Amino acid sequence: MLEATDITKAFGGVRAVDNVSVAVREGTIHALIGPNGAGKTTFFNAISGFTFPDHGRVTFRGTDVTRTLNWRRIVMGMGRTFQTPSVFPELTVDENIRLGVRAHAKQAFQLRAPRGAAAAAVDARVDELLGFVNLAAHRGRLVAELAHGSQRLCEIAMSLSTEPVLVLLDEPMAGLAEAETDRIMAVIRDLRQRLGLTVFFVEHNMRVVLALADRITVLDRGKLLAEGSPQEIARDDAVRRAYLGSEVLERV
Ligand SMILES: Nc1ncnc2c1ncn2[C@@H]1O[C@H](COP(=O)(O)OP(=O)(O)O)[C@@H](O)[C@H]1O
Ligand SMILES: [Mg+2]
Repeated sequence: MLEATDITKAFGGVRAVDNVSVAVREGTIHALIGPNGAGKTTFFNAISGFTFPDHGRVTFRGTDVTRTLNWRRIVMGMGRTFQTPSVFPELTVDENIRLGVRAHAKQAFQLRAPRGAAAAAVDARVDELLGFVNLAAHRGRLVAELAHGSQRLCEIAMSLSTEPVLVLLDEPMAGLAEAETDRIMAVIRDLRQRLGLTVFFVEHNMRVVLALADRITVLDRGKLLAEGSPQEIARDDAVRRAYLGSEVLERV
């Protein structure tokens, strides 16, 4: 699905990402982990076209997209959420998702709202996405008034409005309470199981990563430290030294 080869990105003298290669297989849930400042977000930005790498190559479904603009990658089927939520807090849940759906239907810049069959198709798609993330009951509420977990779900629904085949999620559960984390985990599982999507996500919480991921890639100070199954990563000495060593791993 996605192959990033020898990706390097420096800011001034700092190599935020240093010669990192990752292959995300179709139909998998793949996690990217590592301490703060390890280069995870920079790597995501390079994959999704928010920055271009200094070196290396990115291929998406067999096409070289290394220098392809971000919006074009979205059209090609790459969805993305951000570490800092990028929903519109002053709009309702429904309005946020509708914006995404209409933009995808190329109606965003029409002066009048779509009518007839086009409007019905937009409505149906908004309903479908609201239902998928279990926000139908909150559709009329301002996003600013929602719990953080629901805001994240709204953002995931927006990322789905462009009909991606690969979804990139940057810390979708950062700062959430346990119960909210479980809601997001269930939706991420459904992305694969019900929608057949491939998921590549950044996450700190090891409980979540070990429970969700088929493959785990570990970055440390810009470098690839390890890659493997959850069992392999949990047992890896270098990973334990650099990052984990937490009581979570002792139980795996
Ligand atoms: N736009 C930028 N300008 C300068 N330095 C940056 C920029 N983005 C990230 N960095 C630096 O690159 C390193 C990796 O950051 P980041 O990719 O955000 O890590 P992570 O997401 O793993 O916490 C950090 O040292 C960070 O300060
Ligand atoms: Mg980050």
